[in-house]
Amino acid sequence: EPVDSFDYVIFGATGDLTMRKLLPALYRRFAEGQVPADARIVGTARSPLDDEAYRERARVALRQHLRPDEIIDATLNRFLRLVHYVSLNGADSAGNWDGLKALLASNASDERIRVFYLATSPDLYGDIARNVAEKGLRSDRSRIVLEKPIGTDLETARKVNDGVGKHFPENSIYRIDHYLGKEAVQNIIALRFANPMLERMWDRESIEYVQITAAETVGLEGRGGYYDGSGALRDMIQNHLLQVLTVVAMERPSSLDADALRDEKVRVLKSLKPLDPRNLGENVARGQYVQGNTGGKPVPAYREELPGEAPSNTETFVALKAEIDNARWRGVPFYLRSGKRMPEKLTEVVVQFRAGEPGLFGEARPGSRLVIRVQPNESVTLPLFVKHPGNGFGLDEVDALSPLGQPERIRYRDSYEGLMLDAVKGSPALFVRKDETEAAWEWVTPILEGWRNAADGPDAYEAGTWGPESARELLRRSGHRWVEDV
Ligand code: BG6
Repeated sequence: EPVDSFDYVIFGATGDLTMRKLLPALYRRFAEGQVPADARIVGTARSPLDDEAYRERARVALRQHLRPDEIIDATLNRFLRLVHYVSLNGADSAGNWDGLKALLASNASDERIRVFYLATSPDLYGDIARNVAEKGLRSDRSRIVLEKPIGTDLETARKVNDGVGKHFPENSIYRIDHYLGKEAVQNIIALRFANPMLERMWDRESIEYVQITAAETVGLEGRGGYYDGSGALRDMIQNHLLQVLTVVAMERPSSLDADALRDEKVRVLKSLKPLDPRNLGENVARGQYVQGNTGGKPVPAYREELPGEAPSNTETFVALKAEIDNARWRGVPFYLRSGKRMPEKLTEVVVQFRAGEPGLFGEARPGSRLVIRVQPNESVTLPLFVKHPGNGFGLDEVDALSPLGQPERIRYRDSYEGLMLDAVKGSPALFVRKDETEAAWEWVTPILEGWRNAADGPDAYEAGTWGPESARELLRRSGHRWVEDV
């Protein structure tokens, strides 16, 4: 079913994200028939390009980032006809805003939806929102989508939010966190609340700890300018991993409406036990990779990947222990970990249930472990012990839950696909509300502060390993270990 007609204006249209994720996502939805034939995708950026030149860039990017079997020449050509380009300096109030205005006005109606997607440097978000408003580009049905990072700490996040908030009401601001677009992350909500058995066991009585890992094999990918000013805590933990944590830990929402859901998520963030910046070692480990091997290939150290091999204290790995100070979770550690140059690309949630009584079957039975694999190969597994066939009571372990859906027949949508169209449809449930971003920053900011004042920097870890020894030590102190760790 096609959605209502729309103009999708992308700021930062020549950037990596647009080329790698946003255009492919829109193309896929177009190929599936969800994008109406008179929709328009309007790229804007500083470079002086015309429609044709921009379409050529888009064509190259789509060929590069879509799978070969997704590219059908006729479809690609039809899609590119929806694409336009306006050269614009987002901050500059003169600029070529009139050009954008004229283009939008050339096909305007009350029903037509306008999405303004901001994928520029966040310093510009306030200015862009102001210009969009002052130049009269908003329609009755407009929304503004904000890419991460929203700020670099609580104070700057507030600035961005307030800057945009002056010109757009909160219910039209869509803060994107593409992890919420992942099928397996959304599935956590179904798993928890559609299975009464799990729902009853989802608390401190039954669960010993939770681990959330997002590991990547890539290093800097030429994003040194951004990444070195950010680091793993801001790049992955503040947003993606804390969002996954909220979904794992929230109370049952009264409905699946956007605000019901987000009310529960923000409660989790606000219940996170604050960390003491002077005593981070107890709860947080950080690392930076030195040279090593990933995928059988030697790779250089982080510092060698930086332009000019500048010295840097930026962390490329973080492991931490979070606690949620409420009746359901008090005392249950939530271990979060994310890093570049890990041994494999792997995102998963591990829910470790408590061990059983010793006796009947020998040793105390280890507790069951529910593993929610987010990527690659989305799946949910919960091994159970059953009796080994034959005499006696030997045990076998079998998998009780299965791959998510039927992966051989289903192509899971890329995380941006659903979200980009949700913004068109006006459904913000899977976007991050202002108070959520700010609560997440509030919790993360003392870590940044502690690091800033620390005498030492991140611990070294060899590329292609699961991070520094301090990450292991963090769990060992509570008698736990990381599920993947060799
Ligand atoms: C982005 C980070 O938000 O997420 C990147 O900026 C990271 O550094 C990426 O590589 C990971 O996303 P995914 O979907 O590949 O897990």
